[in-house]
Amino acid sequence: MCGIVGYIGESEKKSFLLAGLKELEYRGYDSAGIAVMQNGDIQSFKATGKLANLVLKTQNFESKEFGIGIGHTRWATHGKPTETNAHPHWGKYSFVVHNGIIENYRELKEELQADGLVFLSQTDTEVIVHLFERFVTQGLEVREAFVQTIARLQGAYAILLITKKAPDMIFFSKNAVPLIVAQNTQGEKFLASADSPLIGYAHEVIYLEDGQYGWIQNNTLDLFERGKKIVPTYKALAQDKLSAQKEGYRYFMEKEIYEQTRVVSDTMMGRVRDNSIEFEELQSFDFSNIHAIKICACGTSYHAALVSSYLFERFAKTTVQVEIASEFRYKEPLLDPKTLFIVISQSGETADTLEALKMAKNAGLKTLAICNVDNSSIVRLADATILTRAGIEKGVASTKAFATQIITLWMLTLFIAGMKKTITQGKLEDELQALVKIPLCLHVNDFLHEKIRRLSKRYLHGHGFFFIGRDIFYPLALEGALKLKEISYLHAEGYPAGEMKHGPIALADSELFTIALMPQTILYEKTKSNVEELSARDATILAISPVEFALADDFIKTSQQTHPMSEFFEMMIITQLLALEISVRLGNDVDMPRNLAKSVTVE
Ligand code: AGP
Repeated sequence: MCGIVGYIGESEKKSFLLAGLKELEYRGYDSAGIAVMQNGDIQSFKATGKLANLVLKTQNFESKEFGIGIGHTRWATHGKPTETNAHPHWGKYSFVVHNGIIENYRELKEELQADGLVFLSQTDTEVIVHLFERFVTQGLEVREAFVQTIARLQGAYAILLITKKAPDMIFFSKNAVPLIVAQNTQGEKFLASADSPLIGYAHEVIYLEDGQYGWIQNNTLDLFERGKKIVPTYKALAQDKLSAQKEGYRYFMEKEIYEQTRVVSDTMMGRVRDNSIEFEELQSFDFSNIHAIKICACGTSYHAALVSSYLFERFAKTTVQVEIASEFRYKEPLLDPKTLFIVISQSGETADTLEALKMAKNAGLKTLAICNVDNSSIVRLADATILTRAGIEKGVASTKAFATQIITLWMLTLFIAGMKKTITQGKLEDELQALVKIPLCLHVNDFLHEKIRRLSKRYLHGHGFFFIGRDIFYPLALEGALKLKEISYLHAEGYPAGEMKHGPIALADSELFTIALMPQTILYEKTKSNVEELSARDATILAISPVEFALADDFIKTSQQTHPMSEFFEMMIITQLLALEISVRLGNDVDMPRNLAKSVTVE
């Protein structure tokens, strides 16, 4: 996710801006930039790669006296990580930085281009500054021009804008993406997308609400909400940087579980349309000669691939083969050029997955990457990439990346099904309706988390865990088992629920903990009888279901849903939180579990 900092006052601006961006590095980025306005002029500097490159570019620049500065670290969502696409973006006399996704940017860009505007970048952000300047050209006073600009924007945005037309003002707006206004006892004003850049500079903050916007002139703040001026209320700023980066959560993994509702929305933005799925990245990708799909991945990404295999065959009527990359590499696979080869990777650097991709390319297959890191090795090699927009994932145990992989693959199956006309328009629109409700399913309510925290004390010993499920809940069972294994170090296995009688049930006794995924929308009765088999042999059952299950030793009730994927995401959250809370009780390092690395770049 991108990072934003801003400052207005008499102090030297570059040092605050660069130090602030450094504090936001943990969010992940691939380019950065600043712009500083003083004495009516604006200087801007941008660099790709690490912040050190920007520091180098600005080493001879200083900005004393009164002035205004804005800074940005970019995590590419639209357009490659290049210097041109780095923020700030500018028009004739104004500069803007933006975090989020302008969902209607294409319509706005076409409208502005029809007025003869030439865009320099591939970003959605650039439309903001051109819209603003067009309103100014039409005669609007700068404040009104800014208000009219943000009124045209749809989507998620945290914006800072400066303009030579108002050399003592900084404009800001917040919707669905964090933005903070802060001040210190000297009256200096700061803005940032998180607490950490403000620590050591500011003493009190305002966490802006969605739809709030305004401007700071000299050191006077004017804050508005839906056109009405509101009285700003500051609160004290916590001064602990690390907890600031975790934004109050105990672990990055916990924060990332809670971020899923937002990052899944981000991943759908601009892709889920009223009655279709659109992937800008696939406009020139030819699917016509594709008769089958092969997917290669590792770990959690492999589990996402397994989930998608059910969806591809159900909706796109396309046969899918899913392979673990480390096995695929050495099995002398038969590769047919009429097969679409998909690789899934959070990091884009997993050695086995990268090698599998090379094999497919060498065999002449069309290749598509589903990846969370632009410009990674896998992204650079694949013929096309659909970026998940999970932002940087710090926890070694993948959570939000998995959620965005699933939502991306679900969208991809519908995109291909729409192209192949293997589902009716009505069915497609039903699926789109289900898709847009998923962020709600990912909302973690305090009661649920507290219940799981209390429950976790009962699952700290025993001789192992079965996670069981059917259909798409089987790969979810695998994923739940992996989450638990990798951060609690307890033994856990995922199984198809129907496999119990083929051997695993021999393990059933009171010390075997079974986490039973019992969705109502898919094969409930079949799954229920499998769980009853285990219960009859005294296995300890934790049932996760919208339907009460009397034989469960513990029960977590999920909500009544009409779509299996809604149940899938609700149960996914529960398995993630269960693993987290068991690991916490065992005193493990949740974010950096033993023996594991965030990206396995070696065989
Ligand atoms: C997931 O919790 C693990 N950290 C691990 O299995 C991971 O999914 C696997 O190493 C693949 O990584 P990638 O998605 O970056 O390719």
